Amino acid sequence: MEDVLTADDPLYSKLYDVTEEAKHMGNYIERDVTDEIAALQAKAPVHKGKLRELLGLPDHLRHPGMAGKQHWTVLTYEACEAVFRDPATFSNAISHTPNAANEQTLSVLEMDPPIHRAFRRAIQPKFLMPEATGWWREFTIDSIVERLVDRLKTRDSADLNMEICARIPVYTITTAIGLEGDEALRFRHAHVNSVENAGVPPEVRYKNFMLVEEILLGLIEERRANPTEDLVSTLLAASVKIPGEDSRPMTEREIMHMAKIVMIAGGGTSWRQMGITLFALLTNPDQLAQVRADPSRLDDAVEESLRWNPTAPYFYRNATKDTELYGHKIAEGDIVEIGIAPANRDPSRWDNPDVYDINRPKLSNMAFGLGTHRCLGMNVAKVEIMHAITALLEAFPNMRLDPDAPTPTIGGGFEQRGPTAIPVLLK
Ligand code: HEM
Repeated sequence: MEDVLTADDPLYSKLYDVTEEAKHMGNYIERDVTDEIAALQAKAPVHKGKLRELLGLPDHLRHPGMAGKQHWTVLTYEACEAVFRDPATFSNAISHTPNAANEQTLSVLEMDPPIHRAFRRAIQPKFLMPEATGWWREFTIDSIVERLVDRLKTRDSADLNMEICARIPVYTITTAIGLEGDEALRFRHAHVNSVENAGVPPEVRYKNFMLVEEILLGLIEERRANPTEDLVSTLLAASVKIPGEDSRPMTEREIMHMAKIVMIAGGGTSWRQMGITLFALLTNPDQLAQVRADPSRLDDAVEESLRWNPTAPYFYRNATKDTELYGHKIAEGDIVEIGIAPANRDPSRWDNPDVYDINRPKLSNMAFGLGTHRCLGMNVAKVEIMHAITALLEAFPNMRLDPDAPTPTIGGGFEQRGPTAIPVLLK
């Protein structure tokens, strides 16, 4: 019997179509705004107002905590770095929900130092490179990549977005947390429909929220009795040391928040970025040939895809005090939009920034953020992407875009980008 990861479950096309995803979240954009953003960036590093307003796009409320607030848009690499590197002035405490009792009921992404550091330290060792290439690969990534690539070996064509990119991250994250692989898809579906900006009626959101809680509480109970090496077991064994308090284990609620943020942060991003890398290589066959000739160049191909089109292009901060940023007076409570994607195409840092070019001089980019909240899962994401593409290139030496399929593009929502499809001929 086929397992759910390799079965043709209709939930895949519901969850892993970038256009559907964006329409569901209410942030779909139809037109390409790259040139308009570059023109704004050339005028000034920081602009008053929401980037959406400045571009004449319909409004979209990313977090309820942002409603009615003055926004500022930050577009150059240097200015974005200044914001990322100053968490005391530019706080991540934006999406605080009114019913959140205190900071310790929030996810690590919404906490500020020093509490943030205490919680991040509890889990960080599990996400370092030796673990990503060791435990993560052995426990989950290798087997799913092998099964999915094997499944394509009898086929002449495929949509790699749906058949490879969609399936690897959801399986990786769900099994790493400690759930069974065949729960992956339904767990993700319930989870994305349980969060504040899910775009579903409140009663549906509540039902999904309760389902996710029930599944995670059951898992915590089970791992308390029978620990393994998975993330929930790691969190149960971890201790948290908040300054001025004794070191203590994490509460059930804190473990659930950590599991949920890892699930949300790692489920969609790697899917779309894996797709962007494949899209970039397949639409630049000369560069694909370079990678085929020297597989060690895949690392450059992934890094360049992250620079060229980071899947999560905008992040937000909340000013904790009155301050000044590039001549603008920012007031306490204002929202600052950090343009990771524009920063990654800043012409003062990169020549011909709109071009995907794996042969550029190596320079760090901002796709995983910078500073305090720099992506916890970046090593895992890179290992997933590299391993999947390596396996595809080895199995299909002649893999190329299908010239008869509709031409794919990078699209989706303003705040999450990915390829519309990746139709390939395999033989
Ligand atoms: C290519 C894929 C990915 C991209 C582009 C990406 C991007 C980012 C960015 C930009 C941030 C910083 C947000 C901020 O400063 O407010 C972040 C944070 C985070 N990411 Fe990723 N991410 C990716 C994959 C993953 C994966 C696979 C996981 C989990 C396995 C993950 C887990 C997290 C977590 C937990 C945080 C919060 C860290 C903190 O607040 O300290 N991400 N990610």
